[in-house]
Amino acid sequence: MCGIVGYIGHREAYPIILKGLKRLEYRGYDSAGIALYDGTDIKLSKTKGKVSDLETRLENEISTHGSLGIGHTRWATHGVPNDINSHPHYSNSGDLVIIHNGIIENYESLKKELIKRGYNFKSDTDTEVLVNLIEDVKKNENIKLGKAVQIALNQVVGAYAIAVFDKNKPNEIVVARLGSPLAIGIGEDEFFIASDASPFIEYTKNAIYLEDEEMAIVRRNKGVKIRKIKDDSLVDPYVQALQLNLEQIEKGGYEHFMLKEIYEQPSAILDTFRGRLLSNEGIIKMAGVEDNMKKFLNAHRIIVVACGTSWHAGLVSEYIFEDLARIPVEVEYASEFRYRNPVITENDVVIAISQSGETADTLAAIKLAKSKGAFVFGVCNVVGSSIARETHAGAYTHAGPEIGVASTKAFTTQITVLTLIALRLARAKGTISSSDYRHHLIELELIPEKVKKALESDAYVKSIAAIYKDVHNFLYLGRGYNFPVALEGALKLKEISYIHAEGYPAAEMKHGPIALIDENMPIVVIATKKGHYEKVVSNIQEIKSRKGKIIGIVTEGDKQVKGLADHVIEVPETIESLTPLLTTIPLQLLSYHIALMLGKNVDQPRNLAKAVTVE
Ligand code: M6R
Repeated sequence: MCGIVGYIGHREAYPIILKGLKRLEYRGYDSAGIALYDGTDIKLSKTKGKVSDLETRLENEISTHGSLGIGHTRWATHGVPNDINSHPHYSNSGDLVIIHNGIIENYESLKKELIKRGYNFKSDTDTEVLVNLIEDVKKNENIKLGKAVQIALNQVVGAYAIAVFDKNKPNEIVVARLGSPLAIGIGEDEFFIASDASPFIEYTKNAIYLEDEEMAIVRRNKGVKIRKIKDDSLVDPYVQALQLNLEQIEKGGYEHFMLKEIYEQPSAILDTFRGRLLSNEGIIKMAGVEDNMKKFLNAHRIIVVACGTSWHAGLVSEYIFEDLARIPVEVEYASEFRYRNPVITENDVVIAISQSGETADTLAAIKLAKSKGAFVFGVCNVVGSSIARETHAGAYTHAGPEIGVASTKAFTTQITVLTLIALRLARAKGTISSSDYRHHLIELELIPEKVKKALESDAYVKSIAAIYKDVHNFLYLGRGYNFPVALEGALKLKEISYIHAEGYPAAEMKHGPIALIDENMPIVVIATKKGHYEKVVSNIQEIKSRKGKIIGIVTEGDKQVKGLADHVIEVPETIESLTPLLTTIPLQLLSYHIALMLGKNVDQPRNLAKAVTVE
């Protein structure tokens, strides 16, 4: 995926676009570019590398003057990351310039046709094909840019959020979306365009989120006209008041977004259950669940679809739903599910989990489940995201913006929402006693304070990181509710430190991974008092006798594991189903500190992007 930014108004566009690109770098950071209209011509500069590389280069290369401009930060799909493939892209005449987030799937056949008509291409991108297609339509039909964009997009198969302008009409930017997000910020005689609202939050709190298959012509001093791309019908703009504030999208004194987001977990979890968990009254209130209670209660099974960290949260929920609400659960990688011709019936409830709400595979899995008649419930963080809109109902996690590419607070808040749902269903089904139910509510309410306590291990975790930072392999083991946490711990380490790590159910170790263990292998073992404790202790002994180095995640006051492990990190005691909310904290910190000590880019690990909007 990529980030796009645009501005048209009365200010200098360059600083707004540059700052906006920096805020959107979480969406992609292998190249960046800006095109500005300086009053007479387009000035364009682009480069492989980060927005800061662009900044250094751009100010020496072109004039940064102009009140109309577009900018792009890229996560490469078609064409390697290099200067030429970076956006913006010119049309052959040099009149049009475009930025694009998405994929034009039929670009090869369109390109062949355009080559026959005399067009030539500098880059390997699908985007350069699109801008030339627009130019071709515009010239052949002698029509305005907006109409040409519309006709061209009707020939395109794929996904896009685009912004394009014509140097001969420097008072408008044409934008459109299908499958990739696009927001228009409405200021006083000025308009902002961006993949999300973060680039313009200090200028306006009013924004229009384009829906799929909509386009808009954004005119200087005039306003925004929105149309359906397919049938040309006019759409009444719906201007939303943004809840986002600047503080939420800045580092707030932390060195990295990831660290800030790790430390935000006590308040993020609190925000997740605020107004939903009323422990005094013994009530859980979730509109999306209440309104669809029949669907949930009649469900023959729950199918969870998700990717990455969200899939791990889904795995935790399998334990909660089965344990508490006695509903059979299957947890599926969305990318596998969508291509597997799965058996789905009208009696299935599908829960789609996604922080960004934009993950392409999860979105496709939802569409498939809907087409087979299943009821689809979304658990998303980003309000108004594609998945939030595509699902029949849902519950937001309310974690606030997560900018670090490695998910942290998204994971714990997803587990919180899923726990609330499971508890509510268990109560409605009568599969939980009222005392057990109350006990769960009280324990859940205590979690934010306990997460704070777990965060106090930071300095100690850092000292452990210093010991193991140079190893090449890590093993993570857990059982029951903490098996998915082992997977999540391994994923965190892999993605930001590039150290190979694997997560396993502790007892599975004997069936293969045990062969890896020697005196050089650190093994993180989650061994909290609740849940198969004695069994995990036996697993620890098996590791010990093979000289593996043990980092135990234990319950406060634990003595047995302390006697066996090389290091123990304590977390507060809680009921078994809630332990993942605590045991995951030291694992996040461990990966953070190791990556930092290795000099890796913690917030923007190589090859990754925050939301994977392509297959
Ligand atoms: O936005 P989503 O939750 O749908 O994203 C799913 C994965 O791409 C995401 O969790 C990814 O695995 C993270 N980088 C993990 O930290």
